[in-house]
Amino acid sequence: MKNRIIYIIFGVSGSGKTTIGKVLAKNFNIPFYDADDFHPEANLIKMSAGIPLDDDDRTPWLQELSILIKDAHTKNGAVVACSALKKKYRKTLQSIDSKYIRWIFLEGSFDLIADRIARREHHFFKKEMLLSQFETLERPKNGIIVAIDKSSTEIINEITSMLNSKKSQLGVIGLGVMGKSLAKNFLSKGYSLSVYNRQLIDVEEDIAKNFVAKQPYKEVKGFDDLYSFVKSLEQPRTIMLMVNAGKPVDIVIDSLLPLLAKGDCIIDGGNSHYKLTLERCKRLDAKGIHFLGTGISGGEEGALKGPSIMPGGSKNAYDRSGKFLETIAARDTQNNPCCTYIGPDGSGHYIKMVHNGIEYGEMQLLAETYHLLRFYGKKTPDQIAAIFDIWRNNGLQSYLLEITIAILRKKEGGDFLIDKILDQASQKGTGGWSTNAALDIGMPLSTIAESVMARNISSMKSQRVTASETYQLETSNIAIDDVFIKKLEKAFQTASIINHHMGFELIKEASKTYKWNLNLSEIARIWTNGCIIRSSLMEQIAELFLDHNHSSLLLFPEIVTPVRLNIGFLSEIVSIGLKSGYSLAVFSAAANYFLAYTSAQSSANMIQAQRDYFGAHTYQRIDQPMHKYFHTNWKN
Ligand code: 6PG
Repeated sequence: MKNRIIYIIFGVSGSGKTTIGKVLAKNFNIPFYDADDFHPEANLIKMSAGIPLDDDDRTPWLQELSILIKDAHTKNGAVVACSALKKKYRKTLQSIDSKYIRWIFLEGSFDLIADRIARREHHFFKKEMLLSQFETLERPKNGIIVAIDKSSTEIINEITSMLNSKKSQLGVIGLGVMGKSLAKNFLSKGYSLSVYNRQLIDVEEDIAKNFVAKQPYKEVKGFDDLYSFVKSLEQPRTIMLMVNAGKPVDIVIDSLLPLLAKGDCIIDGGNSHYKLTLERCKRLDAKGIHFLGTGISGGEEGALKGPSIMPGGSKNAYDRSGKFLETIAARDTQNNPCCTYIGPDGSGHYIKMVHNGIEYGEMQLLAETYHLLRFYGKKTPDQIAAIFDIWRNNGLQSYLLEITIAILRKKEGGDFLIDKILDQASQKGTGGWSTNAALDIGMPLSTIAESVMARNISSMKSQRVTASETYQLETSNIAIDDVFIKKLEKAFQTASIINHHMGFELIKEASKTYKWNLNLSEIARIWTNGCIIRSSLMEQIAELFLDHNHSSLLLFPEIVTPVRLNIGFLSEIVSIGLKSGYSLAVFSAAANYFLAYTSAQSSANMIQAQRDYFGAHTYQRIDQPMHKYFHTNWKN
């Protein structure tokens, strides 16, 4: 048994498959077969009379060819030129293991081929039949696809180089903003890469081809057919999905599955919901495919220059494919990658979700601070930027503060751009997911929940305008002094610590609930660079968690001291803001959380009693063991 390769070169009549096939066969020194030579007599008569063949006519012909293929496979292999227009025809031809067949599709437009046929002499094929061939044609999803609008030599060179080409170390599917940036990042680190983007006429055309054309690197190949993309990858394969979260991820996974082999690894780099990631891990694990649900933060620039990367899934998968991610990640102050194995199943995406929750809280705190300074404090955007700049130098350095300063200074035609931006914010949902995730395991997350609600209220613009006209509430504004600004700085700093505390508490509890064994210090460390919530506070948190991995941020002695000193300013700012007519949703949530968190005596004894009164839900007592529950007949 020699088990040699069969090259099936196909396309509509006139695509040049015989010419190209003969040259290829000569180059490979193997026999060439023209499928047209195997038609039964009846088919030849029909065709020369200009009558298109139907499926029944083609069945005996395809069967004969399938025998020929089987036979050639046991000898030296062969090149077979055949129209093979339909998927089911190709199925019939596939009489040997698919790994020994190379499908080569010659693709051309109707006009181009019609023109070629018109110039041919002594050929039984009539141009009119071409239309029926184009109607029958089912463009293959796998194989090498070569456009024929070039010379035979160019076509042959292209086919040969695709057949011989070195395999890529990894593949990226989806060349949107993030996918492109990540792909460039991989290339800049010296990886050989295959990129795939779907082909959607008038919507997404030649995205992969154009991407490749613009790269200064040689080691990149572009595909719009998944089969060739998958075949171009070194095995075991690593494929990074950069498609929109939700259904598109499953659509791509489903089309990849038949093409993958056991041990291949799929990395989902989108903002997927962790519960879906958990399901995908299970589904793919059952098929022997590794899956890494991977949070990536840092936006377009981060993806290009070094993002923070949060991969979750099987440890084996990380051991195999994590190196790619670590190479492209941002570096922390010790030059370690801001990428670490987070934990099993959905944990990577969970951590990214909480990252975004903290991001929502920090953004809203900055927005509320700006709002108070702008309208209560009568400061101009550049004056606010100057204040924030001082805060930055005082140790409140963060990426979000930095971009807020730049935003405040941005002018358009002499005016501040921020003054022209509509005051309603949208969202993709990760803040809300964090809130739901906290509710799922009974954790408080009020700063993050309030930041989501603040965006929701902001989007009710017309109703807000009506309500404002209806109530005509007074808002006060005064020329604020340095003392007020100092208090605001301390209030902001404290609220930000409380916001981070809640995020990390959620992670800690989720780790216990889902048995993820998460390392909080490592999570904070990979958030010190590359991501949206990188800050000097995060650097401090990463250090502190090293010593107190199982404790709570607000209980670390290094945090207790400044918070004790500044908590009064937080309450004062909230009270000034509310009294003066300014909503401070996240500042208030932080202050309220802190008071509740530090209250040994809460109000919940009353809640227990109320529940027992109307629903006989029972209650616990302070003078009895916790596990004992009591019911009182309250009406007697
Ligand atoms: C990041 C960002 C990123 C993106 C969010 C914004 O970490 O790079 O969080 O993931 O900007 O999707 O989400 P919203 O549209 O919900 O604000």
